[in-house]
Amino acid sequence: MFNTSYIEISRKAFRSNIRYLKKIIGKDTVFSSVIKGNAYGHGIENIIPMAEEAGIDHFSVFSAKEANDALKVMSPGSRIMIMGFLDDAETEWAIENEIEFFVFDMGRFEKAIENAKMLKKKARIHLEVETGFNRTGFEYAEVSRVTELLRREREHYVLQGLCTHYAGAESLSNYLRIKNQIKLFRKFGRYFARHDIQPVMKHTACSAAALTYPNTIMDMVRFGIAQYGFWPSPETQMFRFRKDAKDASPLKRMLSWKSKVMVVKNVEAGNFVGYGSSFLANKRLRIAIIPVGYANGFSRALSNTGRVLIRGRRVPVIGTVTMNTMTVNVTDIPGVEKGDEVVIIGKQKRLSISISSFCEMSEQLNYQLLTRLPADIPRFIVS
Ligand SMILES: Cc1ncc(COP(=O)(O)O)c(C=O)c1O
Repeated sequence: MFNTSYIEISRKAFRSNIRYLKKIIGKDTVFSSVIKGNAYGHGIENIIPMAEEAGIDHFSVFSAKEANDALKVMSPGSRIMIMGFLDDAETEWAIENEIEFFVFDMGRFEKAIENAKMLKKKARIHLEVETGFNRTGFEYAEVSRVTELLRREREHYVLQGLCTHYAGAESLSNYLRIKNQIKLFRKFGRYFARHDIQPVMKHTACSAAALTYPNTIMDMVRFGIAQYGFWPSPETQMFRFRKDAKDASPLKRMLSWKSKVMVVKNVEAGNFVGYGSSFLANKRLRIAIIPVGYANGFSRALSNTGRVLIRGRRVPVIGTVTMNTMTVNVTDIPGVEKGDEVVIIGKQKRLSISISSFCEMSEQLNYQLLTRLPADIPRFIVS
């Protein structure tokens, strides 16, 4: 009710993905579930309880806003780690609420210590070091200044982690860059160890790194895309396919996106369909209008190229995708009527439309498509 489409989330597929990924990292490594971007479009409120059921108690987000959303649904024993932006007031809030956060520059580190002193509460920090991604993280040239501060302010923080992020572990073309990042991360680790600074955990791996570079696994892995059943890239999938030959498809898709036929009608030959003149009916057509358009996350780039499933058949999008609707050609499918189920992503009878084919058609990364699925599309967990 009150929506033109909905998303189904499969609990069974999620469980299976977690089992597979846990087997890869082993039982001594912490599984941090990355739930930024509204849990990659799946809904923070859906993923946290399912992850907790699967034994996960560590969650990674980008911002204080996401951490606050997570706090509302999380069990008391679980922990949150903010990997990205925090302003000064949010830093204070994070310390107060015992939320872990990345520290990657002096200003932020000093602010954290100042707030910790004021609140008389230790800041739970993860020191992020720059190893080659060139985004956030302390440079190696700063290591002695950082060490000085770490040694001086010991009572005001807990060093929960030493961490970094890889620059494209999903592609073999970055092999050398990743190797160099691992080397530099180890150098940071040795420097801190020599100066009696021991983080509780070292963590560097995202999905692609954990799936393809076993030595990046360390004490914790920050799993994003893979836990939702998607491969970071076809290369990662091929690499694992060689290793897990028994199971050709160890990651299971867990998201389906569905709607309903709104109107069915005929168009006589010689008429254009939709805005402008991008589609001309060259014969009498039967068309169906679906109440999902680019405002609902169905890219306009799919005009005249997208596909959806109706009555177990694949049907093409014709004409331009509008703000709230798309039109599909159902001429060859007898009996299509108002109210018929439309699968935009997922399975219907023997056919399926995968996120990856959908992404290829609309030239988007799966990360991009998932996180752009509007938060107001209702999500339901199915078994
Ligand atoms: C710092 C950090 N760690 C982990 C991840 C998770 O990456 P993935 O979804 O590829 O597993 C991200 C995602 O962008 C990230 O920015």
